[in-house]
Amino acid sequence: MFTAMVVEKDEEGKTSAALQQISEDQLPEGEVLVAVEYSTVNYKDGLCLGSGGGLVRTYPHVPGIDFAGTVETSDDARYKAGDKVVLTGWRVGETCWGGFSQKARVKADYLVPLPSGLTSRQAMAVGTAGVAAMLGIMALEDHGMLKDNGPVLVTGASGGVGSIAVGILANLGYEVAAVTGRPETADYLKRLGASEIVAREEINETTKRPLEKETWAGCVDAVGGEMLARVLGQMKYGASVAAVGLAGGAALPATVVPFLLRGVNLLGIDSVMQPYENRVRAWDRIARDLPLDTLENMIQSTKLEDLPQLGKDILKGQVQGRVVVEIAP
Ligand SMILES: NC(=O)c1ccc[n+]([C@@H]2O[C@H](COP(=O)([O-])OP(=O)(O)OC[C@H]3O[C@@H](n4cnc5c(N)ncnc54)[C@H](OP(=O)(O)O)[C@@H]3O)[C@@H](O)[C@H]2O)c1
Repeated sequence: MFTAMVVEKDEEGKTSAALQQISEDQLPEGEVLVAVEYSTVNYKDGLCLGSGGGLVRTYPHVPGIDFAGTVETSDDARYKAGDKVVLTGWRVGETCWGGFSQKARVKADYLVPLPSGLTSRQAMAVGTAGVAAMLGIMALEDHGMLKDNGPVLVTGASGGVGSIAVGILANLGYEVAAVTGRPETADYLKRLGASEIVAREEINETTKRPLEKETWAGCVDAVGGEMLARVLGQMKYGASVAAVGLAGGAALPATVVPFLLRGVNLLGIDSVMQPYENRVRAWDRIARDLPLDTLENMIQSTKLEDLPQLGKDILKGQVQGRVVVEIAP
């Protein structure tokens, strides 16, 4: 028996999360059994620890969309006992049981080897949020983002996606403007490498004007909604926005004018279903381009029993940086 955070749903449809002892034969099918060392808390984990947010299909459920650990047994030639592995996405922790458990069983296709240069703990400090931030930056680079073209905007900057995006962009030599609704995080964001702090209220409402002053050479957007609509009208000619998140809302009350008159690009970023090669490429870039002391600045360490509260906090936008959950006994 081992410990997992299990979410149950009662007859009235109310969910509750608590630690339980479970056994290996309760785990989902898959070729690889992993002794989980660390997991993390993403926005989606907040949903899956609470109401389910339409992501969880069946109960009881073990959330945790990311984990890192050591292979215990494997029926797949690509992995053997003792290998260090990382899982992000593939809807693990949503449609099947995930990483908030001392053991997890998954398909071998879902895993990547722990990137060289990172520990399991550091990989979970990155997690899905960091992979998505890196994929966003790679998409902006592919669309011609240049360092000498001006500042790059990061929205939701003191959250997980935002913090990692700020850290990587600054290390790559970009001038980074960080949007935050928490002025008290300004010093933190500057430590990660932001050179300008933009107050959320300056930018989170649409204007009647579809175009404003050309300001940003690129944007990693974790917020969506009205803020994304507003940012589109502030992009420089030909610049791109990587749409990563919806912390501020799923609607996009925008016009097509920035696309038509300024050649602005809106690039969709999905980390969940990315093919293996792209995941490995993103992890290699993270290991190369995110300084480990910057990453360390973002980490809040917690234990399995703290998860229900952290799930509530992240849904309220109250978590700063990245949470690392110690799972191993
Ligand atoms: N596309 C993908 O594959 C992918 C992968 C990972 C995450 N995501 C999405 O990305 C988003 C961020 O995820 P995360 O893990 O970074 O969450 P997070 O740590 O909670 O960060 C979100 C940040 O957004 C800001 N924010 C929160 N509510 C807001 C509001 N109403 N208006 C404006 N800003 C608000 C806050 O930053 P400040 O306090 O600094 O303003 C908050 O810290 C989520 O929507 C998540 O689902 C997508």
